[in-house]
Amino acid sequence: MPKLLFSLIFSALLITAPLTFAASDDERAQAAAETRQGLLKVVVSYFGPILGMVRQQLPYDGDVVKNNAEQIATLLPMIPHVFQRDTSAFDLDTEALDSIWEDYEDFSEKAAASAQAASNLAAATADGQGAVMKAFGALGGSCKACHDNYREQN
Ligand code: HEC
Repeated sequence: MPKLLFSLIFSALLITAPLTFAASDDERAQAAAETRQGLLKVVVSYFGPILGMVRQQLPYDGDVVKNNAEQIATLLPMIPHVFQRDTSAFDLDTEALDSIWEDYEDFSEKAAASAQAASNLAAATADGQGAVMKAFGALGGSCKACHDNYREQN
């Protein structure tokens, strides 16, 4: 084998080996949990300002409600993707319950229903604050519907 080719292959292995082999199963499972929590943190970063308005801690701004609700509607369908890998066999720092992988289909449906509630909230901004309040209540209920079954209560 020509020397150059050999050294090219060797360096390629050196570069890719850590990516493929470095993480243990435990580390990969913990990383999955952190990705999931990160997604929910982003969701709540859009949810928080709307909650503040509903609680009258922030001035009402229909454009912000609409934009944030649209972002939430985009993010929530990612929940089934990031929870796809069953990590119930691992001892992780997580509030995710094993029941997620016992009824992954129902879990996924709850994510879809919540995304729909977020779209409804975005649409409700066209009908004024009363409609927004009602649609926000429904969105909050849809978060809770999933948490009640699939997130550890604290
Ligand atoms: C389909 C299920 C599902 C839906 C819908 C859902 N969540 Fe969650 N949420 C979870 C699970 C499971 C966890 C626990 C994740 C973990 O700890 O690994 C979680 C965790 C969280 C956390 C804590 C994140 C952290 O670790 O800091 C917040 C905040 C949160 N959710 C807010 C919301 C809000 C707000 C909504 C609605 C707009 C919502 N969730 C909708 C399943 C859901």
